[in-house]
Amino acid sequence: MDISSFANGAAYIRGRFVPIQDASIPVTDWGFTRSDCVYDVVHVFKNGFFRLDDHLDRFAASMKARRLEPPEGRNEIEAVLHRCVALAGLADAYVAMVTLRGRPRVAGSRRPADCDNHFIAYAIPWIDVIPKDVQERGAHLHIAGIPRVPDASVDPTVKNYQWSDLTSGLFEAHDQGYDTAVLCDAQGFLTEGPGFNIFMVKDGRVLTPDRGSLHGITRKSVLELCAGMGIEAQAAAIPRSLFEDADEVFAATTAGGVMPVSRVGKRILGNDRPGPLSLKLKEAYWRKHEEGWHRTPVRPLDKMAAE
Ligand SMILES: Cc1ncc(COP(=O)(O)O)c(C=O)c1O
Repeated sequence: MDISSFANGAAYIRGRFVPIQDASIPVTDWGFTRSDCVYDVVHVFKNGFFRLDDHLDRFAASMKARRLEPPEGRNEIEAVLHRCVALAGLADAYVAMVTLRGRPRVAGSRRPADCDNHFIAYAIPWIDVIPKDVQERGAHLHIAGIPRVPDASVDPTVKNYQWSDLTSGLFEAHDQGYDTAVLCDAQGFLTEGPGFNIFMVKDGRVLTPDRGSLHGITRKSVLELCAGMGIEAQAAAIPRSLFEDADEVFAATTAGGVMPVSRVGKRILGNDRPGPLSLKLKEAYWRKHEEGWHRTPVRPLDKMAAE
């Protein structure tokens, strides 16, 4: 095996490990034609997965909710993720796992149960949902006009690629010169953004939406950090007006961590820079990574060969 071909990233598809540029799915796969798939993303920081079990648990729950059953079991999925990272030779990585509906065994069938579900995974170099320089100055956030799809129609706790509302929110934001967007639901309560959960700080209290959003692993980490630091924090209903009155705002995701916001719509927060509590949480999040918090070391290739 020529390991240099994995320099841009490594993928696992249909039971084989291939360079990322060679990983593709058929155009007739329902994962593509109907966005009928679930996924998860875990990061690798300095050769260690962060909260790997939490991501595998959520991925399993997403698959169950969408009745997706790939041939690979949990241990195999876990081993595939390790191998993708090791093949790509990445110390810091964005690692995705996806299960797709696949194609029907019976030609022309419209029955989802007739499809052969399949699992793919890949490891590529680290990605920040909000670029690092924007995180430094604080992101400028647009409150989108388009409402988040109702929870009862597309369950946001099942991690999915049905992003049309989130993508529309991004277009709205970029057209008006903002960095990114956050969406409210049709009732006017805050939900989440394209690829992140959202937090606000008011009078020293940290709040994150209790609806319309993924149960993010970073969100969970932030709530744990707050508990450990004696900061009052909770998931709650957040009307748009309350959010617009926030003292501080930050976004949270696997691909970026705690990402401060300095403007919400036309409103400038504090001194137009990341707020003090946001920075404290961001610092704690990465410091604890350095200390080995929820860390699973990536298995080296030579060790895997011996297993
Ligand atoms: C829509 C959405 N919300 C929230 C998140 C944050 O979740 P996590 O912290 O588990 O990465 C993501 C991550 O990709 C996402 O896509």
